[in-house]
Amino acid sequence: MIQKIIISICFMGWLIVAKAQSTISIIPKPVEVKVLKSKSVNLNETSKIFYPAEFEKQAIYLKDEFQKQTGVVLGLTKTESSNKIVSNGIFLIVRPNNAFKAEGYSIIAQNSEVRIMANDIRGFINAFQTLLQLIPIKQQSSITIPAVSIVDYPQFSYRGMHLDVVRHIFPVDYIKKYIDYLTFHKFNTFHWHLTDDQGWRFETTSYPKLNSIGSWRDSTLIGHFKATPARYDGKRYGGYYTKADIKEILNYAKVRGITVIPELDIPGHSRAAIAAYPQLSTKPDTTWNVATTWGMYNRQNNVLAPNDFTFQFLKDIFKELTDLFPSTYIHIGGDECSKLWWKQDAKTQAFIKQNKLKDEVALQTYFIEFVAKQLKQMNRTTVGWHEITEGDVDTSALIMNWADDAKALSAAKKGFSIIMTPGKPFYFDHYQSKDPNDSLAIHGYNSTEAVYNYQIIPEALKKAGLAHKIIGGQGNVWTEYMEWSTKVDYMIFPRMTALSENLWSKNKNYGDFLKRLDAVMISRYEFWKSCYFKDYRVWGKGK
Ligand code: ACM
Repeated sequence: MIQKIIISICFMGWLIVAKAQSTISIIPKPVEVKVLKSKSVNLNETSKIFYPAEFEKQAIYLKDEFQKQTGVVLGLTKTESSNKIVSNGIFLIVRPNNAFKAEGYSIIAQNSEVRIMANDIRGFINAFQTLLQLIPIKQQSSITIPAVSIVDYPQFSYRGMHLDVVRHIFPVDYIKKYIDYLTFHKFNTFHWHLTDDQGWRFETTSYPKLNSIGSWRDSTLIGHFKATPARYDGKRYGGYYTKADIKEILNYAKVRGITVIPELDIPGHSRAAIAAYPQLSTKPDTTWNVATTWGMYNRQNNVLAPNDFTFQFLKDIFKELTDLFPSTYIHIGGDECSKLWWKQDAKTQAFIKQNKLKDEVALQTYFIEFVAKQLKQMNRTTVGWHEITEGDVDTSALIMNWADDAKALSAAKKGFSIIMTPGKPFYFDHYQSKDPNDSLAIHGYNSTEAVYNYQIIPEALKKAGLAHKIIGGQGNVWTEYMEWSTKVDYMIFPRMTALSENLWSKNKNYGDFLKRLDAVMISRYEFWKSCYFKDYRVWGKGK
């Protein structure tokens, strides 16, 4: 009899959880959702958010998001003892560190209150995104929140999205909107690619020509860069983010628990800097332009020359960068540095000899370590693309692997920690369909399904006992073929949504994800007035 009761209780429990899965659609999927038998919570304009002083900005953020989504204006009450207050509302309750996994939270909604428990900004912010998905996107005077208990935390500690603002630059308001996208999807890092061959987008007062010259190009390629003959629009294009813009964006991100990692890409991808200061190049007597075409690797000279001016320049610009950006991680690029130009230059060859460097790869390492040393003195950690592992770089650098699993394995074996951002399938500048009429992209095919199902910890690393070396993943958005923010939206949605669940949730199922995407995300993209790729159900599935 007892056994029977236990079985039926378990069965009821299963029923409750199963019901929760079918009626409550949250992306990324939480660790545990239970529908409770209690009464649902009703909130209206007499309801309040009760919050501890240290989370005031987050409480205001929640109030604002609630209002945007429903029209209901909740009150705000600061309290140090929210546990004890008897009233109708949302209670933000701080739990000690060991109560949750990092960035984790719980929500218990029943009767007259929603209790949100977490121990840090990210925990609360993540909880709010779940809460916002428990209520409809609809202007109304009273809101019903189902009686639920949710426990949730992420699978990976690094969950990032990148944005290239060089090939095309986007307004400050769009950068904020992009950060809101990250926040909603429970990412925690925005990787901001600020410099490249086609422009310098970071206000740099120590070298003003980086902005007066390096931030502007005379023309931009029309159509695909492999098309012949090449066509250009003949229009001056550019701009940069001022320090005031950057501070505004950093403050915006901080409230939302988003870390902003800036990237100044060296020693390759430096054509914009070279156009401003030709002394940085292996041919200082040449008049260089800011690149007007895409795909510079091995095609046009864009590498820094190893000389006194360059090394002082590197010290100064990274000092200016770290004075502004508080992130522990600082990205210094290191990708696609063509060795061709160093090989052809007598002064560079003399430098290699003088410093007893083995070859041009060792010179690349010399550059990376030169900057990494400065960063270390400022208590920062270097991040670089996987090419920096070509030489013997200090393994304290964090690697972003945009190549395949084999590259991840070799980096892990050397001792590096790795963020997985493989071109296939985490590059959102690749096509998301094989439809010949799809909007122009660089090449390739990364379907939403491929993004969702990609195994972030490669099997080979698991076998080698190196799974712990993968700290997370990131979607990259190179904007050669994204002139407008609407195109960025089109390229990232719904792939970014799929990536968010791949990074957050251990328990994945693509069919179930598609149902939730239809049920809650499409209306949300529309609420955000964001473009998205509509044929995600047509592509993938073996196509
Ligand atoms: C890269 O795609 N060159 C990082």
